[in-house]
Amino acid sequence: MTRPDEPRTTEDSKVDSGTDSQSAALPVQGLVHLRGTGVSVVIDVTGPTLPRIVHWGADLGELADDDLAALLAATAAPPQPGFLDVAAQVSSVPEASLGWQGRPGLSGHRDGRAWSPRFTVVETRLATGGDGLAVRLRDEVVGLELDWELELVAGGLLRQRAAVTSRAPGVFDLQGLAVVLPVPPAATELLDFAGRWSKERTPQRRPWGVGTHLRESRRGRTGPDAVTVLVAGEPGFDFDAGEVWGVHVAWSGNHVSYAEALASGERVIGGGELLQPGEVRLGPGETYRGPWLYAGWARGLDALAARFHDYLRARPQHPRSPRPVTMNVWEAVYFDHDPATLARMADLAHGVGVERYVLDDGWFRGRRSDRAGLGDWFVDDDVWPGDTLSSLAAHVHSLGMQFGLWFEPEMVNPDSDLFRAHAEWVLQPEGAGRWPLPGRHQQVVNLAVPAAWDYLHERIVATVRGIGVDYIKWDHNRDLIEAGDAMTGRPGVHAQTEALYRLIDAVKADCPGLEIESCSGGGGRVDLEILQRTDRVWTSDCIDALERQQIQRWTTQLVPPELMGAHVGADRAHTTGRQHTLGFRAVTAMFAHFGIEWDLAEATDAELAELAEWVAVHKRFRSLIHTGTTVRRDLPWLGAALHGAVAPDRSAALYSISALERTSASPVGAVRLPGLDPARRYRVGQVGPAPDLDVVGAAVPPAWWRDGLVLPGRVLAGAGVQLPGLDPESAVLIEARAVD
Ligand code: DGJ
Repeated sequence: MTRPDEPRTTEDSKVDSGTDSQSAALPVQGLVHLRGTGVSVVIDVTGPTLPRIVHWGADLGELADDDLAALLAATAAPPQPGFLDVAAQVSSVPEASLGWQGRPGLSGHRDGRAWSPRFTVVETRLATGGDGLAVRLRDEVVGLELDWELELVAGGLLRQRAAVTSRAPGVFDLQGLAVVLPVPPAATELLDFAGRWSKERTPQRRPWGVGTHLRESRRGRTGPDAVTVLVAGEPGFDFDAGEVWGVHVAWSGNHVSYAEALASGERVIGGGELLQPGEVRLGPGETYRGPWLYAGWARGLDALAARFHDYLRARPQHPRSPRPVTMNVWEAVYFDHDPATLARMADLAHGVGVERYVLDDGWFRGRRSDRAGLGDWFVDDDVWPGDTLSSLAAHVHSLGMQFGLWFEPEMVNPDSDLFRAHAEWVLQPEGAGRWPLPGRHQQVVNLAVPAAWDYLHERIVATVRGIGVDYIKWDHNRDLIEAGDAMTGRPGVHAQTEALYRLIDAVKADCPGLEIESCSGGGGRVDLEILQRTDRVWTSDCIDALERQQIQRWTTQLVPPELMGAHVGADRAHTTGRQHTLGFRAVTAMFAHFGIEWDLAEATDAELAELAEWVAVHKRFRSLIHTGTTVRRDLPWLGAALHGAVAPDRSAALYSISALERTSASPVGAVRLPGLDPARRYRVGQVGPAPDLDVVGAAVPPAWWRDGLVLPGRVLAGAGVQLPGLDPESAVLIEARAVD
């Protein structure tokens, strides 16, 4: 039997291995207690088998060794009558050899053998800084080594991953490697997300009975229907109530997320990459490393979202400069590029306060529609003759704005010079004599082909440097199906995903200061691994404010507002045909990285003036929105929803109240303002240009509306404030600012 090495003690308060004087006893106890931001994780690394999470949830306070030992005893389940003679061990990579009768963590075989490992610990290390563990395990019989890591990161978020190395002759055919976390029996409801193009992150909720809620994404990208966060919680959990445990698989390719409840009582949530047959075949000494599984425990969905936000905000690469108000010209001109029109658009954008101007699809060779040109990343001389595109960038810069440009590097139209020259670079099934079914008239370039990767890298970097590009909108408009490597015949999504990460990393390294937006036909590539190397996500192609309210509300379950693009569109939404006032469109885009996507040449002077006012409102509040704590509430009795940002020191807050399901403008009743300091006094007032009050005058604003009022935070949270009657699909903005 191999015992874990002695973990080093650390001064970091996150590690509690008993009292300092007893720290030497830790390896004997074999329990590691990580604490941070109101969370405790107690891990049993006694060995010899896989680490086991004994507790993941509320902070247990400082625990001496005796307490930890007693906790282990208190939580050890007895054998279940009618099942095995021993209690099943729910480890982080569950194994049948330890009695786990659900989905195995590791699945695979070596020529039909080596399919049921029982790993024993070789070495256990505390991670640098003491906020994590790294355990190496081995099974000599099956010839595999397993490396498991767990870290408690900023925000009290956990992350966990595993890697497997083959240590025996032959090929180990890996079919899956998932990591899981246990959740208590009280978690009997599940929430996750589905969706489609233009309707991303649609919530779905269900009771969690015995069985597996399994979500598999085989789109070769994160997907508009991605799980995003899989939440298990106490019955009735809400934004501000109920214990919740949530996981996110940080991977931009095929992936699996699941919640599994066994009849014997165990419950786990977890996931990993979804591997296709033959996709990962490990020769001796070869390693496969799975993606991070991020996991958060909290009371209420807002607190869970805050853990993800706090983690992202603590990263060194997190954008810290004010997020520039953006003009994207896609819905203004689509493929109709005319240099003079687009220069005029830049002037109009500058006039309303825009700080970043993005030229979307249509600037490169042959790209007059979505049927041709993808892959030919050279400026199209037909529409941008001579140096007119560089001149537009220079004009944008001269106005003090940044210049952004659209790319879709992984894609190729069959009608392109690239495809004609290098059809072998395209992902395709081996020897089938057919191409994968087209999507938006395009196929997918195999980034794992070094020459293809080099070509794209060179084209992107040369264009960025040549034109003076500050920002790339990096798009990806189709799913990967039958995505095989033409040279090896093997499935290629895993290699594609890794090559994409390398490509973005290399472009960023070669173009210092360049920011990148992750777009995928709207919000189809929103995950924490793409966000390690990009600076915002395009949330959805639907900028209808009503739809956006839902899409953004749930995107913030994972993504903080400063990384989530939201644009004010035309009064008539292009994707739905709905018409909304400018006020509703602007308030909806407010709690995000704000932008405009509207042909400003068609806007009236009054609209331009009002838009400029909304841009100014956003600039006034963006540092609050982009550093604050997100609060969300359903106000079903009002047919409305509250969304807000509260400053970290609770000195100020901004709220929107949006009428999403109303049919008339009758008064909506008192709305409570959450998140404020109960003891402080706040001045509350309406913000922005004249709000969309009841247009027929049926509702009179409440007495305080015109001049504002001052009340303690506890009163605002407990009694609330009356609002004016809101028309259906309208919104108001309210500010609360501490006066003491
Ligand atoms: C899909 C994106 O989501 C849109 O915003 C736009 O960039 C188009 N692609 C361009 O083809």
